[in-house]
Amino acid sequence: MSFAYNGIEPVLRSVDLDVKPGQCVAILGATGAGKSVLMSLIPRFWDPSDGRVLLDGIDARDLRLDDLRRNIGLVFQESFLFSNTVASNIAFGHPDATQEQIEKAARIAAAHDFIMQLPKGYETVLGESGKSLSGGQRQRLAIARAVLLEPPILLLDDPTAAIDSETEDEIFEALDRAIAGRTTFIVAHRLSTLRRADFIIVMEDGRIVQKGRHEELMRVPGPYLRVANLQLLDGRELQQQALEQQPQSMISMERKGGIT
Ligand SMILES: Nc1ncnc2c1ncn2[C@@H]1O[C@H](COP(=O)(O)OP(=O)(O)OP(=O)(O)O)[C@@H](O)[C@H]1O
Ligand SMILES: [Mg+2]
Repeated sequence: MSFAYNGIEPVLRSVDLDVKPGQCVAILGATGAGKSVLMSLIPRFWDPSDGRVLLDGIDARDLRLDDLRRNIGLVFQESFLFSNTVASNIAFGHPDATQEQIEKAARIAAAHDFIMQLPKGYETVLGESGKSLSGGQRQRLAIARAVLLEPPILLLDDPTAAIDSETEDEIFEALDRAIAGRTTFIVAHRLSTLRRADFIIVMEDGRIVQKGRHEELMRVPGPYLRVANLQLLDGRELQQQALEQQPQSMISMERKGGIT
């Protein structure tokens, strides 16, 4: 499958991917590699220029658009909240949700505890004149919003991009629970997330250049190993070992070449 915004210059090229129900696919790649574009084809924000997106064997274009989108939960890099109550922010897209359902989703998203500490709990109004939330809290509301739909498909586009690493840990606990049992695509850079995925795809210039489990990709020279080693170096873990084994590993993802 490929895709070009202008019908000429493709931003996705020869993408071929088969994801089994319930699998979690992590997507790694430099900025502009096509990670978001790839995910945007699933809810049909765009359609492929050639090839198809099949869901349970059915061409996405043959499904009713609202049926398709109702089955997909989305969390983006930064989340949009309305100046309305916490409860109605979580229930966005699901106006008939009961308080019980809202609370259940908030617990899965590790949001219930901080919500209960807000002045009026679930009825606290957010926004300019109301209570403002931290980036991590906002993302947890966004995860609760996605979870409330109980979607079989979950698309998480770098959901912790705007968050410090301490808060990130809390979000990832929430994400682990949200992901369980759902077919998930997650754009992620952290090894801890990549490791847990059923498989990882590494994208460069609109192509999938590597595909496999963490353990598999760690055994072959290529962009995955370079990125992983950089993080291990950052974390001061195995620093000496990495230096001895992979002196060329200081190349960043942004650099071209060296693709197997
Ligand atoms: N609406 C658009 N119209 C035209 N080109 C676009 C549009 N959105 C993205 N692109 C181009 O498509 C390519 C892939 O973009 P994409 O947003 O998928 O990158 P990404 O891997 O998600 O990057 P990032 O890590 O920065 O989010 C880029 O070259 C980008 O400039
Ligand atoms: Mg993106």
